[in-house]
Amino acid sequence: MSAGFTLRHAISADAAGMARVLQALVASGQRSRPATVEHVLSHYIEDPERLSCLLAVDADGTVLGFQSLKRASAGNPYGVTPGWGIIGTHIAPDAARRGIGRGLFGGLFEGTRATILREGLPGVDASIGTRNAQALAYYHAMGFRDYATGPGVQRKAWHPEHSNTTKI
Ligand SMILES: CC(C)(COP(=O)(O)OP(=O)(O)OC[C@H]1O[C@@H](n2cnc3c(N)ncnc32)[C@H](O)[C@@H]1OP(=O)(O)O)[C@@H](O)C(=O)NCCC(=O)NCCS
Repeated sequence: MSAGFTLRHAISADAAGMARVLQALVASGQRSRPATVEHVLSHYIEDPERLSCLLAVDADGTVLGFQSLKRASAGNPYGVTPGWGIIGTHIAPDAARRGIGRGLFGGLFEGTRATILREGLPGVDASIGTRNAQALAYYHAMGFRDYATGPGVQRKAWHPEHSNTTKI
């Protein structure tokens, strides 16, 4: 795949490396939510609503970032329409803007986008802090568009019918 990283699905043994990515985001002021191994296991790798959790790793196997896709269940705490996807993307600050996020979302046949299409999700929600300019720009570039707001949050949606017109 692209220079400097490869993609693979996360397994439980990746939890420490993924937690290090979250901790680096906390240290750089880009994250305030939990960043422990336990959180990574329960929230991403072993979450029963998980549809996909893709990692980007460098040649040494160091985790550079990951992207999580879950199916929204009835009564989910995010208020996302049940049956939609919920996406989250976390790239280590020193690995940002190298195309990793773009690679994780992927194309028609690989990456998170391929899973969205294969699962037939009617839509995917990305909830982003209104001051998080890089994430707003990233999801826009991936074809997500504004559809709702909450306190301090911009919600963007991606729909499969747009997938043929979005340049990835
Ligand atoms: C937002 C984030 C996921 C982007 O990942 P990334 O690997 O740096 O993104 P990429 O290099 O693949 O960029 C893809 C496109 O997104 C846009 N983009 C990404 N970062 C950007 C930035 N800082 N400023 C402007 N546009 C940006 C660009 O259009 C870019 O394409 P280009 O480089 O060809 O111009 C990453 O910076 C991150 O994890 N941030 C902290 C955590 C977070 O806020 N996550 C999102 C909330 S779930």
